[in-house]
Amino acid sequence: MVWDTDLTPISNRRFHNLRNRLLFFYFLIIAAILGTFSAAVYLLVAHDRNQQLDAHLRQVAASSTGTLEIIQHEYEELTTEDKYKGYVPTGSDGMPVPITLSQLMGKYQAESVSQIAVSPLAASHQGVEWYDARQRLMVREGGLFLQTSLPSDIPQHGVWSQAGNIRSFTQPAYAVSTMNPDQILGYVRVTESTFTLEAELHRLRWSLIFGVLTVSGLAALGGIWLTHESLKPVVQSFDQLKQFTSDASHELRNPLTAIRASIAVMQSHPERVHPADVDKLISIATASAQMSQLVDDLLLLARMDRQAPDQSGWRRIALDELLEDLVDLYRDRAEQSQVSLKSQLISGVEVNGDASQLQQLFMNLLTNALQYTPSGGTVIVSVQRIGTHALVTVQDTGIGIAPEQLPHIFDRFWRADQARSRYEEGSGLGLAIAKTIAQRHKGDITAQSKLGEGSYFYVKLPLAG
Ligand SMILES: Nc1ncnc2c1ncn2[C@@H]1O[C@H](COP(=O)(O)OP(=O)(O)O)[C@@H](O)[C@H]1O
Ligand SMILES: [Mg+2]
Repeated sequence: MVWDTDLTPISNRRFHNLRNRLLFFYFLIIAAILGTFSAAVYLLVAHDRNQQLDAHLRQVAASSTGTLEIIQHEYEELTTEDKYKGYVPTGSDGMPVPITLSQLMGKYQAESVSQIAVSPLAASHQGVEWYDARQRLMVREGGLFLQTSLPSDIPQHGVWSQAGNIRSFTQPAYAVSTMNPDQILGYVRVTESTFTLEAELHRLRWSLIFGVLTVSGLAALGGIWLTHESLKPVVQSFDQLKQFTSDASHELRNPLTAIRASIAVMQSHPERVHPADVDKLISIATASAQMSQLVDDLLLLARMDRQAPDQSGWRRIALDELLEDLVDLYRDRAEQSQVSLKSQLISGVEVNGDASQLQQLFMNLLTNALQYTPSGGTVIVSVQRIGTHALVTVQDTGIGIAPEQLPHIFDRFWRADQARSRYEEGSGLGLAIAKTIAQRHKGDITAQSKLGEGSYFYVKLPLAG
């Protein structure tokens, strides 16, 4: 695959992270869109189905209230007339117990009984109850009843109640045939189980969740291909850019070396140089030294970008020895600029790494500390052991860094305005290199600073096992 062969491992890792992030957000967006859509569908369906159920209950209630007057009449005959004595059984309290419609109609001819027996209300998930005006249950039909008595306050348009997954609607019935149409004749309560509806909605819910996950998963699979294709040119041009930087720096090295060698030769024979040209020669020498430093830095960065850390060249490094050597190396420079350079080192703090790269890392920090600390200031290098890590601190009492600039100091070619205007030396690559080296050693580098007071640079590296 182009992805794997075109790139060196380090850039591969960088683009891998980018691709994974893109994929993750792509999946999240698709899932969010589908999730919202499915939730809306579910809510609409649930609302609709509940409405249907309520409409059905209302309809049954309306037709049942129409029969209340007749049922009441029949029931009264059965319970009061002597010829039907014993037809309606009585409960332990001596009161007649509720009977079914078929029992009520049983006193008539057989065909009426069979007609009612096939009533759809016989379904086990529904029930209708007819109450008299004193809310005493007379007749009931169907297979589902609430054990509770009627609600205390029943408005004219009826009242809904829900207990568990049983939904009921109670409606008063008014006398149509009497002189007083407001007189309550009795009540009808219709009950229906919402169990089937809930099972249906439960199924719908899971189908939608499963659908959203499946479609999002498929979209993510498509996304893998899509991000791969769309990142391909970016990866290629990034790789070409790195190759170009690396080649250009490499090619610039030889002519620069030639220029510097020629200048050195000229400077070693001052008698051959016209006195008016001495200063110009010094400027050229300084500029070419800066340029070759810049080219070296660029080349180092380009190489580190292209290649994964080669741990075969790593060895155990005692940090106190490495730092002591560097402090010795920088002592003269510190004295020249009248900065007190101190070290607080402890022995036995060892890390695994590339000695020259770690040297470069701390040199960059020390160069900065000395460069950005005015005379009379102090620079302290210290090393500590913290858990499984070594912590090297390079601390100075220099010009400091403004809080809003602190996040940028590790960016390539970034220099604070103050540094740019006052200290010509420097390219803004020192800290970028230091950070890259620290990260290649599975460590990190952070900074704390106060403008005008000084800075702390912390390098954290894993201790050698
Ligand atoms: N010890 C320090 N004190 C104050 N400012 C610092 C210090 N170290 C770095 N900086 C700021 O961070 C910028 C980037 O540092 P660096 O990458 O080493 O580049 P430069 O080549 O400018 O030294 C510097 O230009 C400077 O503004
Ligand atoms: Mg620097």
